Amino acid sequence: MKNKKKIVIANWKMNLSLKESLALTGQIKKKISRLNLVDKQAILCPDFLAITEISKILKKSKITLGAQDVFYEGKGAFTGQVSPKNLQTTGCQYVIVGHSEKRALGEDYQTINKKAKAVIAEKMIPIICVGETLAERKKGQSDKVVANQIKQATVSLGKKGKFLLAYEPIWSISTSGSGQVIDSQEAARMFAVIKKVLSSRFINYLLIYGGSVSPKTIADFSKIEDVSGVLVGGASLKADSFIQLLKNA
Ligand code: 13P
Repeated sequence: MKNKKKIVIANWKMNLSLKESLALTGQIKKKISRLNLVDKQAILCPDFLAITEISKILKKSKITLGAQDVFYEGKGAFTGQVSPKNLQTTGCQYVIVGHSEKRALGEDYQTINKKAKAVIAEKMIPIICVGETLAERKKGQSDKVVANQIKQATVSLGKKGKFLLAYEPIWSISTSGSGQVIDSQEAARMFAVIKKVLSSRFINYLLIYGGSVSPKTIADFSKIEDVSGVLVGGASLKADSFIQLLKNA
């Protein structure tokens, strides 16, 4: 599936206070309203605490609300978890599932698959994350690792279930400490591998790149064939930088 609009997803992670999240949302909303970015889609993923307030700020704006995580059960004795239904009622439309920073804390692809299905069941769109470590890349296992992650994450999603597949090589994330970033040619090769895995099983997905995307590099990644947008951490934490990402996508 191809998207007419380039998608820029801000993953603010745990970087902002509530006050800072609300202020940044207000600034982005104001700046976007002055621009005519008809071919771009902005999605903001704040932390859970900020979601309800940000949802109010985003009403009647063209900016879409997303979340950084979710639990797969609907209701019950699950201390500390947030249900898909509660997210959906805030106006949240997208949910990141299986980010590598959650995987580093022990989340496996069986759990990620349950989360993706729960998100789709509430008529939201999961942003499913995959990507290899530097050690796996050095051993030449990137293609196999990513293909396996995709297969496990998408078990019985249904041919028509809509999702975003975000390829984020873990070693290319700005805070990974590797000091390295995948080049766009190698990213394009990885996306060809990913498409091969997905296209025989699904029809309703979009491809997203993530890892050290900046206003300078965004075009290199967003222009890769069949890539519909980017998932951005660090460069999404300032309004001017986020607007520049949207302009350059
Ligand atoms: P950076 O853009 O800071 O590398 O973060 C990428 C990421 O993990 C987005 O989910």
